Amino acid sequence: MRAVIIYESMFGNTHAIADAIAKGLEPLYNVVAVPMGEAGREGLGDADLLVVGGPTHFHGMSRPRTRKWAAATAQEPKNDLVLDRDAQGPGVRDWLRSLGHDHKNFAAFDTRFKGPAVLRGRASRQISRRLRRHGFEMIAKPESFFVTLENHLEPGEEARAQEWGTRLAARVPSDDVTDGGGPGRPATSKET
Ligand SMILES: Cc1cc2nc3c(=O)[nH]c(=O)nc-3n(C[C@H](O)[C@H](O)[C@H](O)COP(=O)(O)O)c2cc1C
Repeated sequence: MRAVIIYESMFGNTHAIADAIAKGLEPLYNVVAVPMGEAGREGLGDADLLVVGGPTHFHGMSRPRTRKWAAATAQEPKNDLVLDRDAQGPGVRDWLRSLGHDHKNFAAFDTRFKGPAVLRGRASRQISRRLRRHGFEMIAKPESFFVTLENHLEPGEEARAQEWGTRLAARVPSDDVTDGGGPGRPATSKET
């Protein structure tokens, strides 16, 4: 089975989380983790699972303006931040706009500051909503991984992301066995 992880990352944290999720999926999936800018080239084609993630900016998905602010923040030496190599590419919002209709399984994640989602916001919820509107099937609740106020990953978040990937990998095949469907068709409560 094939999984495609598509991420947006300004300071490298969402990129690191995407790589960790890939490790969790790897025992069951042939996985690629690609930045938004390469998503078109990689193509979703025969993917059985799509995982999409991005940073939370102003309570939701980034916008061109917030991405510019992030880039300016990274350039200030006192902030000890490095722009991710693909930070100048398109953001998740633009990529979602260009996406066609599909029925693939998906899960969404974000990175953000620690704290209640109701106060901090979280991009993964918006990403999930958009993907569902495009016809995709959500197989897991949106998940957040946390960064410090200095925009570095909180300790243990990569390990947690890997575990999340492992749980995602386990979910699709077991659901398919339960409902007798093929890959890409998770069971619903009515079917089991
Ligand atoms: C312009 C901007 C706005 C942000 N707004 C929020 C926010 O509303 N809530 C939050 O939890 N984190 C917010 N953050 C922190 C980001 O979520 C954090 O920088 C991101 O998770 C880092 O991921 P990255 O390294 O992949 O870019 C913001 C960061 C920037 C640069």
